[in-house]
Amino acid sequence: MGMAVDPADFRAAMARFPGAVTIVTTRVPQERRGITATAVCSASAEPPSILACVNRKTGTCQGIEETGCFNVNLLPDPSGDIALRFAGADGATGEAKFSLGTWREDGRGLPVLEEALVAFSCEVTGAMDAGSHRVFVGRIVEIAHGDGKALVFEQSRFHRLQPL
Ligand SMILES: Cc1cc2nc3c(=O)[nH]c(=O)nc-3n(C[C@H](O)[C@H](O)[C@H](O)COP(=O)(O)O)c2cc1C
Repeated sequence: MGMAVDPADFRAAMARFPGAVTIVTTRVPQERRGITATAVCSASAEPPSILACVNRKTGTCQGIEETGCFNVNLLPDPSGDIALRFAGADGATGEAKFSLGTWREDGRGLPVLEEALVAFSCEVTGAMDAGSHRVFVGRIVEIAHGDGKALVFEQSRFHRLQPL
């Protein structure tokens, strides 16, 4: 067994991984909820599924747990303002976060960002705790396609994609 790794060191190491920026959303009867998330990736081709790692302290995590449903909205460039808002940077929480961006409802009433490059509507088929976060596997029930280029987050900053 190696020495325990310092969480700050882990965060600094993970900051080297460029991440596509998404807004993971859900809806409970009383309100819409969402967070900015880069810990999202493809999980299975058949059935088409993705996974999202969501901090267990967030209302979004509780909402996904309660309803068994979530959406993943891939942010276009520019939309750093939406990313910061849903990361809690300006103090807005819950329903108040949704005053930025154009939000519509999918077939189940969950929030879909009109500007999203891609939006996945998912139903939870698996979940496990991983320390501070809960890993949700979601089977995709609906896909909406948009236009544009993805926003990238690396070393605590947003970046623009550029072909080599
Ligand atoms: C670029 C970026 C990526 C993030 N990725 C994740 C993530 O994958 N999972 C997660 O739980 N939180 C992630 N966060 C933090 C959440 O967005 C933040 O804790 C959340 O918005 C807090 O919501 P609340 O203020 O409504 O509780 C990320 C934040 C930023 C700025």
